[in-house]
Amino acid sequence: MTEEKLCSTDDVEPGTARRFDFGPHRICVVRIGDDWYAIGDRCTHQDVSLSEGEVHPDELEIECWKHGSCFSLVTGEPSSLPATKPTPVYELRVDGRDVFVELP
Ligand code: FES
Repeated sequence: MTEEKLCSTDDVEPGTARRFDFGPHRICVVRIGDDWYAIGDRCTHQDVSLSEGEVHPDELEIECWKHGSCFSLVTGEPSSLPATKPTPVYELRVDGRDVFVELP
């Protein structure tokens, strides 16, 4: 595991998602208030960018825009079809204005 600086807290508006490419990792970072989440940015149904989907703050989910599968920001598991496989979850740490990600 290595920890790398991913972005600044100014880079992601509350209630939104943004994609960051970090080496081979395509990461969907979601900010809900001051809480931060990071899951794999690829929908596990087809290769669609989850960060282009809609954030559901109450459910802590993001919805794939293509066919509507919702993925947990906490576990990476889909809660609705057609996706059936989880997407990876990354640990984030916020220190001041810096956001760090733990990479496998
Ligand atoms: S591509 Fe995401 S649900 Fe089909």
